Amino acid sequence: MDGPGDAPQWAGPLGSLLALPGVTDVLVQEPRRAWIDRGGGLQMVGVDLPDSAAVRALAVRMAGAGGRRLDDAAPVVDARLPDGTRLHAVLPPLSPECAAISLRTVRQRALDMDDLVASGMVTGQLGRVLRAMVARHLSVLVTGATGSGKTTLLASMLSLVDPAERILVIEEAGELRPDHPHVVRLIERRANIEGSGAVGLPTLVREAMRMRPDRVVLGECRGAEVREVLSVFNTGHRGGFATLHANSTADVPARLVALGALAGLDQRTVELQAAIAFDAVVHVERDGASVRRVAQVATLSRSGAGDLVAVPALTRGSRGWEAGPAWAALGEGLGLSQAGHAVAA
Ligand SMILES: Nc1ncnc2c1ncn2[C@@H]1O[C@H](COP(=O)(O)OP(=O)(O)O)[C@@H](O)[C@H]1O
Ligand SMILES: [Mg+2]
Repeated sequence: MDGPGDAPQWAGPLGSLLALPGVTDVLVQEPRRAWIDRGGGLQMVGVDLPDSAAVRALAVRMAGAGGRRLDDAAPVVDARLPDGTRLHAVLPPLSPECAAISLRTVRQRALDMDDLVASGMVTGQLGRVLRAMVARHLSVLVTGATGSGKTTLLASMLSLVDPAERILVIEEAGELRPDHPHVVRLIERRANIEGSGAVGLPTLVREAMRMRPDRVVLGECRGAEVREVLSVFNTGHRGGFATLHANSTADVPARLVALGALAGLDQRTVELQAAIAFDAVVHVERDGASVRRVAQVATLSRSGAGDLVAVPALTRGSRGWEAGPAWAALGEGLGLSQAGHAVAA
C-alpha cells in the first residue's frame, strides 16, 4: 500500500494528488492542471504536466502499469492499477486536444455500515432495513448515477454477509473490496489486439454458478449479462446483488428492458423475470457536490397492465423516512413491520 508521501512510480506528477487524504477522483484533460475531488466537489489544482505530450505519455505509462496497452490502435483503456486505483484514459483524436485521464481511487478498507451511518449516507432506521436484507437473503439491486456510491454501499452490505457464506463477485475491474473472509472474484477479460480471447461478464456469471456460490454478485450490470443475472436470480439463487446505473427507481424498469434488448430479450420477458428476480431496489443519490445518501428503497412488481414498475417502499423526505405502498410487504418480509412504523414516523 502506498501511503502519503510514498507515491507510486506509475503515477508520475499525479502521485502526490492521489496520496491526498480523502481524494476520490483525479482528472486530467489538458496540460498543467488537474481536477480533484476530496468529497466536496471538483477543485482545480496545478500539476507538472507541461504539454499534451506529457499527459499522453503519462496515460500510456499508467495503462502499462495496469497491464494494458494504450496507443493509436487501442486509444481507450479502462484498467486497474497496482494499488487498486481505476484508470480510464482516452487518447487523441478521440479526445481531440489532449489525452483525458480519469482516476478513481479505492479505499484500502471498505466503509462498513457504521461508516455509512457516520457519513450520513444511511440514516434513521435504514441501517436495520439494509442489515435485514442481507440476513434474510433478499436479492438486491443497488441503483444510482455514476459516482453516487453504489459500489461503496454494495461493499458495505457484502461485509455484513455471514462469514460462513461464500461470495462470488463478478466484475469488470476488481473494484469491490468487501470486508469478508470468503470472496472469490472473477474479472472479465477484454479481447487482445487480434480481437480474440475475450471472456465477458455473461460467461463469468454462468461460470460462477458452478463454483458453489452462496451469494452471486455482479459489480455492475451494464450490458447483455443482465440476461444471465435475471436467470440466476430466478433459479433459486437468492441473496444476490447487482448494481445498475439509473437516475431514479422509476427509471429502473426501462433500464433493465434496454439492457435486456442487448441480450435479445424482449420487453415482456425482462419484465416478467425482473419482477421475480429482485426483492428490493436500493437507490443512492449524490446531493450537491459532496453528500451521498440512500434516497429510496423500492420493490419491482408488475402493474395491472403487466408493465414492470418500481413501487416505493421507503422514501427519504424532509422529515425522515416515509413509508410507501410497498413497505408493508417488504417490511414484513424483513421481519421489521413494527420497525416500519418507526421508520415511517
Ligand atoms: N458514504 C460515503 N462516504 C465517503 N465516501 C464515499 C461514500 N460513498 C461513496 N464514497 C466515495 O465516492 C466515490 C464514488 O463511490 P462509488 O461507490 O464508486 O460510486 P458508484 O459505484 O455509484 O459509481 C468513491 O471514491 C467512494 O469512496
Ligand atoms: Mg460503481
